[in-house]
Amino acid sequence: MSTYIFVLGKDPELSMAELLARYPESKPQMKCADFVLLDLKKPLSQKEFDQLGGQIKAGKVFDTADKKYLVPKIADHLSVEHYAGKLNYGVSVYGWSEKNLRALLPDLKKEFKRRGISSRFVNQHFLNISAAQHKGLSGGKEVLVCKEGPDFHLAEVVAVQDIDAYSKRDYEKPFRDMKVGMLPPKLAQIMINLTGSEGAIWDPFCGGGVLIMEGLLMGHKMLGSDIDEETLQGAKRNVEWVKKEFAVKTTAELFAHDATDPVPLKQFDAIACEGYLGPPQNRLRSKREFAPLVSRLSQLYQLFFAALKSAGFKGSVVIGLPFYRTREGELELSEVIRGAEKTGFRKELDLKYARKDQLVGRQILRFRLV
Ligand SMILES: C[S@@+](CC[C@H](N)C(=O)[O-])C[C@H]1O[C@@H](n2cnc3c(N)ncnc32)[C@H](O)[C@@H]1O
Repeated sequence: MSTYIFVLGKDPELSMAELLARYPESKPQMKCADFVLLDLKKPLSQKEFDQLGGQIKAGKVFDTADKKYLVPKIADHLSVEHYAGKLNYGVSVYGWSEKNLRALLPDLKKEFKRRGISSRFVNQHFLNISAAQHKGLSGGKEVLVCKEGPDFHLAEVVAVQDIDAYSKRDYEKPFRDMKVGMLPPKLAQIMINLTGSEGAIWDPFCGGGVLIMEGLLMGHKMLGSDIDEETLQGAKRNVEWVKKEFAVKTTAELFAHDATDPVPLKQFDAIACEGYLGPPQNRLRSKREFAPLVSRLSQLYQLFFAALKSAGFKGSVVIGLPFYRTREGELELSEVIRGAEKTGFRKELDLKYARKDQLVGRQILRFRLV
């Protein structure tokens, strides 16, 4: 058993929910908005970390120290396997102001000099190490210094978000339909993890198939359907592309289906989906202007949940709904949520995913039939 620190993404609560769903037995503990501490039975690999869209980096804890021992303890750890040449390293701090790097990094350098070791830290402008900078460490290590009360957990980074792979999947896939709004691959991974399922997952509003692609990469059997035949052809092209580019062996079944019709007679354990978000918004509107769209979407989801109820589907249903920023504040599709609850589904999770400047955000919900 080893203790790990996970540095959370820009929506910490969603990132935390992902860890809780993925590692329920490890009892993840959120120590501040920046990081989580959790015990894992098996060593964490980069491959496993690549399936966690809500996490920025992870480090294996090697010590917990008082502030006055930080420098010697970090120096001990970084120099233990260093035999010759320049020692490259980086330090990032969490739960503690980055300003502290202004003293910590030069103090460490002095400590190495005192020990007769020539060293170089890769931090730029005394700021934390980004995922891109981490790659430039060329064999050197990155240490995380994470403050919890008077103590500092020290961890060596073992996995970092692969930003290049995410942007390849996001921007290089052959079918991109800007009209339907595309789910970011990281959010698709979070949603899949939130199902808590290791088996087959159905996306009944699959669009261009982002959830399908991410699910396949995570080793799930995936089923995807959409009402629109042309979009479905696009999803098929994307799936073929991801299978070829990322050597995926699992399969996806894609078929035309109206999500308000009776649930197809197919095997799946969970549902993860993002339905229609409405047309792209280019200006701040009033709540009233959204009324026709809200009523249309409420009807659509009402029928969808009714179909799931009729089928007696007991697995988790993770769904991304739009919410709109209006002149009068945020407008959620509360009717959809109330409707699902009236139909017999319990809301287990309700979190938001949005940039501050976005007019349309996503509300990520998990329901289960009770
Ligand atoms: C926002 S898109 C999904 C985007 C998708 N998550 C992606 O990242 O590519 C919503 C999709 O729902 C589909 N849709 C709308 N109404 C539907 C219905 N009643 N049944 C099935 N699919 C439907 C649309 O054709 C569209 O492709």
